[in-house]
Parts: sequence; structure tokens; C-alpha cells
Amino acid sequence: MDGTEVTPEVKRRIKKLRDEIVHHNRQYHELDQPEVTDAEYDVLFRELQSLEKQYPSLITPDSPTSRVGAAPLEKFAKVEHRQAMLSLDNAFSEKELNDFNQRIKDRLKLKVATVEYVAEPKLDGLAVSLVYEDGVFVQGATRGDGNTGEDITPNLRTIKSLPLSLKDAPDGRIEVRGEVFIDKAAFEALNAHQARQNDKVFVNPRNAAAGSLRLLDSSITAQRPLRIIIYAMGLIEIDDALPETHWDMLQWFSAMGLPVSDQAQKLSDISQCQKYYDRILAGRESLDYEIDGIVFKVNSLQQQIDLGFVSRAPRWAVAYKFPAEEATTLLLSVDFQVGRTGALTPVARLEPVFVGGAMVSNATLHNMDEVSRKGIYIGDTVIVRRAGDVIPEVVGAVTSKRPADAAEITLPAECPVCASPVIVSEDVAVAKCSGGFNCNAQRREVLKHFVSRRAMNIDGLGEKIIDQLLERKMVSRPSDFYQLTKDQLLELDLVADKSADNLLNAIDASKQTTLGRFIFALGIPEVGETTAKQLAIHFGAIDALSAAPYDYYVPTGIPGIGKTRASRIVETLESLPGDTKPESLKEWLSGNLTGVKPAEVDALLLRYPETHQLQNLSVAEIQSKGESRVEGVGQTMAGLIVDFFASADNQKEVNALIEAGVQWESATVPNDGDESLAGNIYVISGKFTDMSRDQITAALVEKGAKVTGSVSKKTTALICGEAAGSKLAKAQSLGVEIIDENALAGLLN
Ligand code: IVH
Repeated sequence: MDGTEVTPEVKRRIKKLRDEIVHHNRQYHELDQPEVTDAEYDVLFRELQSLEKQYPSLITPDSPTSRVGAAPLEKFAKVEHRQAMLSLDNAFSEKELNDFNQRIKDRLKLKVATVEYVAEPKLDGLAVSLVYEDGVFVQGATRGDGNTGEDITPNLRTIKSLPLSLKDAPDGRIEVRGEVFIDKAAFEALNAHQARQNDKVFVNPRNAAAGSLRLLDSSITAQRPLRIIIYAMGLIEIDDALPETHWDMLQWFSAMGLPVSDQAQKLSDISQCQKYYDRILAGRESLDYEIDGIVFKVNSLQQQIDLGFVSRAPRWAVAYKFPAEEATTLLLSVDFQVGRTGALTPVARLEPVFVGGAMVSNATLHNMDEVSRKGIYIGDTVIVRRAGDVIPEVVGAVTSKRPADAAEITLPAECPVCASPVIVSEDVAVAKCSGGFNCNAQRREVLKHFVSRRAMNIDGLGEKIIDQLLERKMVSRPSDFYQLTKDQLLELDLVADKSADNLLNAIDASKQTTLGRFIFALGIPEVGETTAKQLAIHFGAIDALSAAPYDYYVPTGIPGIGKTRASRIVETLESLPGDTKPESLKEWLSGNLTGVKPAEVDALLLRYPETHQLQNLSVAEIQSKGESRVEGVGQTMAGLIVDFFASADNQKEVNALIEAGVQWESATVPNDGDESLAGNIYVISGKFTDMSRDQITAALVEKGAKVTGSVSKKTTALICGEAAGSKLAKAQSLGVEIIDENALAGLLN
């Protein structure tokens, strides 16, 4: 194939490449079933690109190569909409929806009959108009003022779900309208990317979609994960008859390859509309893109024509809006709240605004990094978001409305509650009050956390009572709750005789708890409910937890020893004779461990100087930076747990609580009294098919047994799964009973 001469062969090849690429695009973007790797796809794409470069006369507007974006524009050209792009009237209540239906019935002079509607989610993006000539996408435009929009054809071409040519389209002009948007996950990812590049972050998916679509450089648009859904027709000039209903029109669009909403539904009357609205509103959070209401449209296109328009909106459609999740208001000031662990959280004080179905006057700003990332100043008009049950947050500022005297938000140098210095560490975003338990705010939060439902669950001990107890110095640490007397409680405001009794009973009842709840209640920084449970299951006892050193969680291993060498070492150590004397260990190791350097042998012996320790090593213990032994506890959290128990004050408090009578019968759940394994000590080793090791531990502990980490003469039995390794050898040599997964089931039943 030479130079510029176009041969039938070249044409065929180009057509074949285009067909294949279109097919793979669909498999990948619409069906989620790619048939080729990205690299294979790239090969096809590049071949097409180079052929088109060689034979420019064969370039067509629907070629998949046009999706990568075109050369940047100076500005957008204007496009006159031959049929105006309208907006919609809104309804905000069931009454307004019914009024809409009644107006339609009156106009159509329908006395009894019902009107059929089609419902579609109202997508929160940017309206666009697409023109196809003889089935080929030729022009796309924004809405603009409804009559004149901007030509954004190159940008629209980059949207993968927008077909560049229609399937089996009739000759002539087909104009459709739809919404370009970005889904929630793609929005988060885009913002994370923008933040990493120090680029502007978008306040919401709508702005991200609009901003991406209106870029003069469409090659940047091509990198933004935009989607499109088509919901209406524009001016259509074809010989074929048009569908008779909106519903059939959607089916027609879909058959031509245009994406329509998979939530659209035909509804027999207006009462069905309210039901549809309620259902979609309830499931709003689970949709992967944002919607701000439901659009109801009269299904019959003839009825639509009969109804016509009022000013800018059709009479035959209505947008029944969801309660707004975002609103703008003034940022009056910023206070800093001190949390349980001393973390300072900036909180925005706002001019009260109705958003997400409630009045909001405070909203979190998370931390100072967020404040600077969002570029918010005191005095700004800010966008406040309250979605579902999520706590309200400030998402950004409307910079165009910033007053001249807007003030920067600064971190105080001293704790606003106890005046201790505020410490900002470099590796974490949070600033902390250094006052610790002496800070009244931290103390108050610790107490609140301790009594909370998921912790010790002390009913009736609300914030107001805790504040009074603190003020009167009746309580300063959690264990003080258990020393309270009825007379003391009666001194408090709002506590009558009966409620004092109830409170004392609740405090007393909380003593009977679970280890998981107790660990959670201690308020170890970062340790949430789930991790607390994992710790309880893993250790089975508070003493074991408080004694565990940092290395226990995150075995740091021997520097330089990877997984493969670590497994070889563990295997070899299984043949280490149990009677090897400590002074002969070095010799034995040097002679038997092949491929291990003398310095590594020394490091191994330094850490594990005893024969039985070496025999019981696991791969994770030797491998440098092994995996955490407790699920969910990484290096940071391990450090926080160890620090917590290293504090004498904390140890004293744990003891005081236990002395006061706090107790638990099992790691996670109060057991049913089955203590059939009490007094037994088990060791677990290897992999199991039906249960995780944590689950086996929990089940044994629940029946009163103890689970330890290494086999000794005291071990009742070794619970042995696949590939058990050195522990199995040890158990065999000591004559300890060995229980496999089948026998375990018997033991637990
Ligand atoms: S129909 C003549 N259907 O909402 C009717 N609009 O507030 C034209 N929108 O400008 C609109 N989802 O940007 C229609 N399923 C949907 C929609 C929808 C979102 C947008 C559209 C319109 C705005 C009106």
C-alpha cells in the first residue's frame, strides 16, 4: 500500500479496523466484557490512526479515532437550536404532582380517564443536543440560553457511550437531547487525581461534568470519564413515521444504539408516579450517579402536541424534585472541636439553611488540609451538602461572591478548651491538643464514648448528665461511674428519684459485657468496633492484649529475608533437634541453613535465642515486613495500641474497671453457658477450608477454652489445617493430640 493511492484493499482494512474497534469499545464500556487486552486494542487503534494519516480522504466523522479529542479551540462556535431546548417546571410535593395531573386532564378535557406517564430519573448533569445526519453524529451542542448553544462536537465525541453512528438509522436528520454526567465513583477518582496533580478539585459531580465538557482542549475531555443518557428528541426530519409514544421513542433510540435510562418506566396513572418517586428516592444513595428528582412525561406524543408549551417549559412534563442535598449559605465563623483523642476538628458555623430535609447551622470541615484544599475563607458564601444520613459538610466556596474582608481560617496555637499547646505532626493531617486526659474536652469525649450504645451501653447517661458529673467532679474517669451513689445522682439537675434508680441499674447492668465491647469502650485511638472485636477474638483476654509488643502485630522479621527464603528457613528449622543446646545453635544454623548469610544467622539468633523459639517460627515472623497478625491492625494502629497500654494511667484505669466488677464471659458475645472446653488449651496451625483461624479461635474461646500461639506440654491439642509446618512437628514430638478440620467440627458441636 503506497502513499496516497486509495485501493479497495485499504478501504476494506480501514472498515474492518473500525468495526472491530467499535465492537471492542462496546464490549468494554457498555457490557463490561472486554475480549482483548488494552495492548491488543492499542495495536488496532494505532494501525487505524496511521492509515487515516496516510489517507486523509478516508477519514469519516464517525471514525473511533475521533474520540481521542481534537486540537484545542480558541473559543466555541455558536449553534442555533432549530428547535428550542426547553427546561422543566418543578413540583415539590405530592399535591403539586397531583395538580400537574389535574391541569393535564382539564386541558385534554379528560373527565374520567387516566393519563399514562413515563418516569425517568432526573440526571444532575449538563443538557446537550446531538445531531445525526444519515445516521452519523455530526454536531453536538450545549443548551446555552435554549436558543443558541455552543458547539462542543469534539468534546462529545470523546464520550465512549455516545455512538458516533447509529444502527439501522433512516436517512435524514435525527436530533436527540440528553444529559452528560459523571458517576459518583468516577467523580471521586477524578478529584483524587486532580488533588494529586495540584489541580482544581470539583465541588460536585455536576460541576465536574460541566467543567469537563466545556474544555477548549478536547484531548483533556477524553481523559474524563463522562457518560451520557438520552431522554428526548429534538428536530427530526426523516421519511419514516415517528413513534406514537415517548416510551416507544425510548425503545427506538435504544435500538439505534443510543443509551437511554435503564430506570425508565411506563406508569398507568398519577398514583403510580408517586410510588415510583418514593421508591427511587429511597434507593437514591445506591444509584451510582447523582439524580435530583424524577421527570414525569405524558406518554402519548399526540397528547404532548395537544398540550404544548408555556414560555420555556412543556405542559406535558414535570420535574418532581427530591429534597435538595446542597444549598449555599454564609460561613459566619469557624470553631475548633476537640475530640476524644485530642484531634482538633474545624467546624463551620453557618447562617442556618434548609438542606437535605433539615435546618443546618454547623458543618464539619474535617481538618486543616481539607480547609486549604477547598480554599474556604470566613465570610465566604459556601456550598453545604447534607445527603441521606451523612453529617453535613462544606464542599466548597463560591469564590465569585467572596467579600473583600474574607478572613483566612487558622489553626489555634493553643487548645480552645484547656489551653495546652496544639501539636501538628507532619505525617498526619490532624492537629492535636497535647493536654491528654487533663483536657476537659478529651475527658468528656472519653466518657461519652465509654457509655455509648456500642461500647458499654449505659442507658440514660446522656451528654447533659455527663457534663454535670464532670462539673461537680463526681466523675473524671470511666471507672468513676461505677462508684456513683444515689445521693450524688440526686444532686444533679433533672434527675429525680426514679431516674436515679434507673441510672444506677443501667450502670450496674453494663458491668456484664463482652471483651470486644470493653476494648472498644477503652477508646484506644483508631480502634473501632470491628477492630476491637478482632482483638478480642485474637487475644481472648485483656492481659494478653495489653502485653503484646509492637512486633507481635507486625512482625518486622529479619531485614532482607523475603518470603521464599523465610519459608525455606522455617522448613529447615523443623529438623532442628529439640535438645540442641543454646551454645550449639549458631553452629547448627550455619551448617544447615543454606543461602543464609552469617549476618542473617546472627540476627535470627539475636531475636530468637532459644531452641524452642526457633522451632516454632512462622514465615511471617522471619520475612522482613511480614503481614499483620491481627486483621485490620496495621503498623500505625499497632503503635497506637501498644502506646495505649504502655501508659501507666491507662493500665491503672483498666484494672480499676475490672476491680469495679466489669466482666465478660467470652471474647465477643455473652455465651450461652456452654463451658464444655473450660481448662483446655489449643494451638491452631495451617489453613482451613470452612472457617478462618479467627473464627475457630472465637468458637473455642466461647466454649471456655484458651488459645495460645505455641505448642508445649500444656497444650491440650493442636488444631491442624493444611500445611501446618513446624507446629505439627512439635506437637508430634511432644505427643500432643492433633485434631483435623473434621474432628474440629465435632469438638465445636
Ligand atoms: S426532559 C422538553 N428528562 O433537567 C423536556 N430532562 O430542569 C426537556 N434533565 O434541561 C427535558 N434528566 O437538563 C428531561 N430524564 C430527563 C432529564 C432531564 C435531567 C435535565 C435537563 C433539563 C433540566 C430541566
